[in-house]
Amino acid sequence: MTDKTNPVDLITGHRRMRRNRKADWTRRLVQENRLTVDDLIWPIFVVPGTNIVEPIDAMPGVNRMSIDKAVEAARLAADLGIPALATFPNVDISLRDDTGSNSLAANNLINETTRAIKKAVPNIGVITDVALDPFTSHGHDGILRDGEIVNDETVAQIAIAAVMQADAGADIIAPSDMMDGRVGAIRWALDAAGHQNVGIMAYATKFASAFYGPYREAIGTSGLLKGDKKTYYIDPANGTEAMRDAALDVEEGADMLMVKPGLPYLDICWRMKESFGLPVFAYQVSGEYSQIKAAAANGWIDGERVMLETLLAFKRAGCDGILSYFAVDVARILAKR
Ligand code: PBG
Repeated sequence: MTDKTNPVDLITGHRRMRRNRKADWTRRLVQENRLTVDDLIWPIFVVPGTNIVEPIDAMPGVNRMSIDKAVEAARLAADLGIPALATFPNVDISLRDDTGSNSLAANNLINETTRAIKKAVPNIGVITDVALDPFTSHGHDGILRDGEIVNDETVAQIAIAAVMQADAGADIIAPSDMMDGRVGAIRWALDAAGHQNVGIMAYATKFASAFYGPYREAIGTSGLLKGDKKTYYIDPANGTEAMRDAALDVEEGADMLMVKPGLPYLDICWRMKESFGLPVFAYQVSGEYSQIKAAAANGWIDGERVMLETLLAFKRAGCDGILSYFAVDVARILAKR
């Protein structure tokens, strides 16, 4: 009963939020969002060669792996119940050129990785990127001509690359290049090649972010990149523009949408889920991963708890899943619960 002499009761009346928080069992009972292994997509880095597992300095705990090791990683992920992998190649420097022509080689590193994984671990999903940055000598996602990243020529090339990735067994094509019209072109090319069942996860809103730094070390583009990517990635200041960009990807036939980076853009995750109702994924990118790792290594934060909290935040923001370098660590923790 409300005590009229107690100032707290006078203010709250009968409303006391802490009743539902009073015990572990009530908290479990009222918990709105939950992270499960089904929410995870694990991005991995691949290098040429065999029996290679090399650490990435800027991403403690993450390695570049040769294909044989990537297959072992895929098996581990599948055993843990992780639904899908996203693969990124560190292409030999001698194969990189102005137009990223190696993206069109049927047996390039990314396609050979897909073939090997799908053969050995058929039940894990393989998501491949068609952006040209791993293949270009300048580190840009598109073809560079007279100082400009040319849109339509790039789209024509990545649509072909997408078909080759699907031929190799990729389940979902995830274009991260932010060229205009690429989702529609990829859909058209996939369908024309008989790949109606290959999906598209559009990097619907990819921001010109400083959080990609460690990734560029991982795939060896940090020393190459000339200038920045502001003529094709979205200005971090612009939420409404991001929504218009995502709307085009929806119209052009995207099956799933992605927001990248993740945590600084939770508002976009939420708006996208509310607006389109399509599955929405967040990419917790390399810089987000590394800053948690660095602070944890210094003893400044509890790395495991912060990791779990950030991933849960994506769920609360409406995401259906998260691409995260923590995927295996998280899957192990969740399996123990
Ligand atoms: C480029 C690409 C980027 C990432 C994946 N593909 C960004 C970039 O290098 O500009 C970033 C992933 C990460 O930071 O984890 N197509």
